[in-house]
This record gives sequence, structure tokens and C-alpha cells, in this order.
Amino acid sequence: MSLVQVRGLRKSFGAHVVLGGIDLEVEEGSVTVLIGPSGSGKTTLLRCLNGLETPEAGVVQIGDARVDFAAAPSPADVRRLRARSGMVFQAHNLFPHRTALENVTEGPVYAQRRPREEAEADARALLTKVGLADKADSYPYQLSGGQQQRVGIARALALRPALMLFDEPTSALDPETVGEVLTVMRDLAAEGWTMVVVTHEMRFAHQVADHAVFLDGGVVVEQGAPADVLGRPAHERTKQFLRRILDPL
Ligand SMILES: Nc1ncnc2c1ncn2[C@@H]1O[C@H](COP(=O)(O)OP(=O)(O)O)[C@@H](O)[C@H]1O
Ligand SMILES: [Mg+2]
Repeated sequence: MSLVQVRGLRKSFGAHVVLGGIDLEVEEGSVTVLIGPSGSGKTTLLRCLNGLETPEAGVVQIGDARVDFAAAPSPADVRRLRARSGMVFQAHNLFPHRTALENVTEGPVYAQRRPREEAEADARALLTKVGLADKADSYPYQLSGGQQQRVGIARALALRPALMLFDEPTSALDPETVGEVLTVMRDLAAEGWTMVVVTHEMRFAHQVADHAVFLDGGVVVEQGAPADVLGRPAHERTKQFLRRILDPL
């Protein structure tokens, strides 16, 4: 059963068409990797799914929330859609003056009006899940990049979204902390979280993803099983891109 359905999603910035009509389905409990050259629209696509950008046209359905952007949707409908997904950004954007625990409880307490005690108990469990039980009272500057990114994952999970979106979650990290973040993401996948991940970590993509999508110039060039799209792509643009990232020189 598909959790996410995107039909004809279009987004421009001025005269620049960034997403030229995206169709996408994401099965419940699956991991989709989204790859493509810089500027191909990957971040914009995630931001449209998460309600951070407003597309000109297209239908986005996540679970029971459905918005037709061509039909002047109400702010309440867009808020409902936004609440269905949680996003982990390329560079963590934790509140610098709040501890790890406070960063994770902020959303549930202020945005979802959940009781602080319950939110804190939840946050501690989530920090434990991402391997940071002992860092609850640390401030972001006291944490490594990988640890900060894991707090960012816990923070997104705390809002109990149906869908988790990851935008190059390891690309700003020191190489030695990439693995700890990918391990947490593997665990989430094994737990059955539905995830859409923009990443160029090919081993992760091959081992964890159920579906791979190659985006170029704001359109889906090809999609399918990772072994096909990443292993034996059908399109020349996909082949070229994979050659470039596998052998950058
Ligand atoms: N807020 C914005 N205003 C104007 N142009 C933007 C904005 N956000 C993204 N773009 C442009 O949209 C294109 C796609 O960007 P993006 O979605 O960030 O691509 P990717 O994540 O694949 O690198 C780029 O050409 C970028 O410059
Ligand atoms: Mg991007």
C-alpha cells in the first residue's frame, strides 16, 4: 500500500522551473533513495512534501492528508499535510542554546501541545534509540557533528510523523562520523519507518533502499529497484551521473 502519492508536482522560482511535473509513490514501510546532480531539485522536492515550499500545481497525499496545490488549498489542509512528515536537514539546525533533550521536546510541547512530562519521557527514549542517552543535557556545541545529526533525527521522530525525509544527512559530516548516522537510519528502516532519503552514499542505497529515483533537471529520469537504477541504469544521464560520483576525478 502506498503511503505517499505525488502527482504532477510543479515548482518554479520566478521563471526557473525547478520541478517540472513529478510523479512519485512511496510504499508504506519502504526506503526510497533520491539521487541526482546538484541543482536537480532534490531538496525542493523534499521541501514541497514537507510543506516548506508551496508548489504551483500537483497533488501530494501522505497518509490521510491530501492537498491539491492547483486548487488553492486552505492553510489548515497544508498544515495537516506538513504534520505527516519529519525532516532531517543536511546541516543540523538545532537550537544552539538548548540541550539535546530540550531540542527534542520543543516541537511536541510547543507545536503539538503535548504534556511536557510525556514529551520528555518520549525524548529520552528517542535519544536512547539514537545512541545518545548520556547526552541529554549536552548543548549542541558539546556534541560532534554526527551526534548533533542524531539529535536532529530524534527531534524529527519526536513529532511522530508518518514519513521521514532526509536531505543529504551525512554530507556535511566528518568522514568518521558518517557511519554512526547511517547506522541509526538503518535501524529506523529495519523498524519499518517509511523514509525518503537524498543521499549519495551508494552502499547505504544498495543495502537499505527498496526503491531508487534518479532526478535530473526537475524530472524523474528513471526509478525502480536500486540494483537496476544504481547498478545497471537504463538512461545515459543516470550512467553519467553515477560514473561521476563513483569516480569524481
Ligand atoms: N528559494 C529559492 N529561490 C530561488 N531558486 C531556488 C530556491 N531554492 C532552490 N532554488 C533553485 O532550484 C534549483 C534546485 O535546487 P535544489 O532543490 O536545492 O537542488 P538539489 O537539492 O538537487 O541540489 C537550483 O537551481 C536552485 O538554485
Ligand atoms: Mg539539495
